[in-house]
Amino acid sequence: MDAAHVEQDLVNVLFTEAQIQERVGELAREIERDYEGEDVLIVGILRGAVMVMADMARSFSRHIEMDWMAVSSYGSGTKSSGVVRILKDLDTDISGRHVIVVDEIIDTGLTLSWLTSNLTSRNPASVEICTLLRKPEALAMPVDVKYVGWDIPNEFVVGYGLDYKERYRNLRDIGTLAPHVYS
Ligand code: PRP
Repeated sequence: MDAAHVEQDLVNVLFTEAQIQERVGELAREIERDYEGEDVLIVGILRGAVMVMADMARSFSRHIEMDWMAVSSYGSGTKSSGVVRILKDLDTDISGRHVIVVDEIIDTGLTLSWLTSNLTSRNPASVEICTLLRKPEALAMPVDVKYVGWDIPNEFVVGYGLDYKERYRNLRDIGTLAPHVYS
């Protein structure tokens, strides 16, 4: 689905499909350089990170392992619930492994702050975070993010994995949702 298909629902397109692909490729190359000669496990946080994981994994020109976690952080609306719970844990033992958590957005920072300390307690060689988008509030949280695609304004964004009530995840671009959709 393209932005043109949901034009009425969007205030604007923040990032086009082409811009996203380019930035994801840049992040993959940065990670490749930083972990030269090391085995890396990238961990996607379901469900929003599916698109960025799929594109990033294919951008690497080397082997990379993938695993997934599901945690709850949001309700079905636009606000963070403040509750983090593991709904699906890793299938991989990460002790001694280099782990990069990949997510599509850091909003309050709550999810990834909690997740980083959870994963760190499993004795990995390292844990870093890669997020495509980061909102300003996240800067106030004690979450150290090594790889960021873009810092964005505090607006409700959808597309490329980001949903509103499970819709818009399959939008190729990332756009700002019009208030009439959620108010
Ligand atoms: C999003 C995103 C992060 C989290 C960030 O997931 O993927 O995991 O919210 O929010 P925070 O920084 O305020 O904690 P969400 O809970 O919406 O689930 P989804 O990926 O299934 O859409």
